[in-house]
Amino acid sequence: MCGIIAYFGKKDVAPILIDGLKRLEYRGYDSAGVCLLNNGELFMAKVKGRVSELEKLALNLKHSNIGIAHTRWATHGEPSEVNAHPHFDCKNEIAVVHNGIIENYTTLKEILEKEGHKFISKTDTEVLSHLIEKFYNNNLEEAVTKALELVVGTFGIAVVCKKENKIVVARRGSPIVLGVGEGENIIASDAVAVLPFTKKVIYLNDNEMVVLTDNKYEIKNFDGQIVEKEIDEIKWTAAEIEKKGFKHFMLKEIFEQPASIENTLRGRIDENLNIKLSIDNIDLKSIKRITIVACGTAWHAGLIGKYLIEKIAGIPTDVDYASEFRYRNPIVREGDLVIAISQSGETADTLAALREAKLKGAKTLGIINVVGSTIGREVDSGIYLHAGPEIAVAATKSFPCMLTGLILFSLFLAQANGKDADKELLEELNSLPEKIQEILDKSQDILLLAKKFKDTKNFFFLGRGVNFPSALEGALKLKETSYIHAEGYPAAEMKHGPIALVDPELVSVFFAMNDHTYAKILSNMEEVRARGGQIIAVVNEANSDILNLTKNVIVVPKCREELMPIISAIPLQLLAYYIADLRGFDVDKPKNLAKSVTVE
Ligand code: F6R
Repeated sequence: MCGIIAYFGKKDVAPILIDGLKRLEYRGYDSAGVCLLNNGELFMAKVKGRVSELEKLALNLKHSNIGIAHTRWATHGEPSEVNAHPHFDCKNEIAVVHNGIIENYTTLKEILEKEGHKFISKTDTEVLSHLIEKFYNNNLEEAVTKALELVVGTFGIAVVCKKENKIVVARRGSPIVLGVGEGENIIASDAVAVLPFTKKVIYLNDNEMVVLTDNKYEIKNFDGQIVEKEIDEIKWTAAEIEKKGFKHFMLKEIFEQPASIENTLRGRIDENLNIKLSIDNIDLKSIKRITIVACGTAWHAGLIGKYLIEKIAGIPTDVDYASEFRYRNPIVREGDLVIAISQSGETADTLAALREAKLKGAKTLGIINVVGSTIGREVDSGIYLHAGPEIAVAATKSFPCMLTGLILFSLFLAQANGKDADKELLEELNSLPEKIQEILDKSQDILLLAKKFKDTKNFFFLGRGVNFPSALEGALKLKETSYIHAEGYPAAEMKHGPIALVDPELVSVFFAMNDHTYAKILSNMEEVRARGGQIIAVVNEANSDILNLTKNVIVVPKCREELMPIISAIPLQLLAYYIADLRGFDVDKPKNLAKSVTVE
């Protein structure tokens, strides 16, 4: 949520900042701004809207090689030019870009206003520039440190002052990565913006700051002590963050799924069909109960994870919205494992739930995509998904990879507790990429369905058992990309209220695959049909039972029940994508949303 970037080097900074902002735009895209420092002067440009609208203004600013920039997802104050970052002090000498929330900004603002500071925006961030001004005495680091001592909340900030040739960056709760280049250094909210420059990175921890000066970076804690940190290497390549001829990142990421799953599986099942995961620091034999915490799509993966862990490993498992877990004083006992699932590894609610679980003494495991992310660094052990960068705001390829990770973990847990290996499931896991490719090869059939139903106003997604979370995920994908009202339900729950909404305008997407709930699902489809509702069915076989109820069928390959949610996710992602695209929306950047939700 919000992306910041800063560069100190030898090159012309404006194109670098604009390119970085474009790569960070998935984090927020309602307004953007830059501030360049040149010979004791600050040059600034801001716009309401996309980075592409800022580009021309920024490139026309005075040439410079020091600068900071921001792309915004509004929290305090509507999207507008005046609320766009950077924010300045009274004398326009100090500029700040910020990702996070200053929770006590009203109190700080009142104090500063009494002292004569004039505010022009409605943002929480503006208190930071004025606070830094208040403490500024020809030493920017010192002023930033003093200001941050008074702040309650989260921040990743970059600050410049016209009187000093440096950039001061600090972090508490919002991600910051430093890219270490040759004669140039760059900082950003995410490694994707650093990757075109260098693969050498340092991840800042909370309460650390980095000062960029000529050719040099220095990392300190807020007490002013130098912190020595290791340089990591980003494993992704620059090519992975390009669209590669696809119209949108979402479509590219959908089509990458066979390869992404192969990457999640790679090296984790040996020739004797044993699972190999490096889960250190957790005694798998002592786990008595598991709680999964996650948000959004990752939470849907967690619901399926409950089913998988209980079925495969026999350990009782609960699933909590991370945002609820943290604030309900959860009971955590000895022998509890808390699993945090997150693509970005930066979701604020998931991170807060994880920290709460650790405070209460639970062991923690992460199922995460982004290596080096905060959650990845804070868990006791982790399973990285290796799905590759996911740029589109709507999660796609991370979802089946999370499920694959959960299956591997369940099998590993069962193995550690002396259960016999489920050889058939293991073999089927290996054939997943092929089955997904089969669905992708028939994507044109789903495009036809999308054309037919693109103007529908209301959708239900209905499934039972392991396909119920798939129904939730199908509904989420459609509503967030196409702005069509969609609800997911366990199919049998229809009769307890929602069926009142069924009429010829409503489309119900049923998961009617060949599992033990198949006969019951057919009855639920009959109930909808009897009330004139339209049906799309995701099936393993377009048999006469199904075709009597609907001609709108999506046939997917047969598989074991445990793998069904992976298989069924793919056509629903395609359906959502095609409908959104046909309706003319910016599929990769849906309105009001941002990827990597780093505010609670
Ligand atoms: C939906 C979506 C969100 C994320 C959620 C969690 O398509 O992308 O619901 O799943 O914000 O994000 P991560 O997995 O990064 O913690």
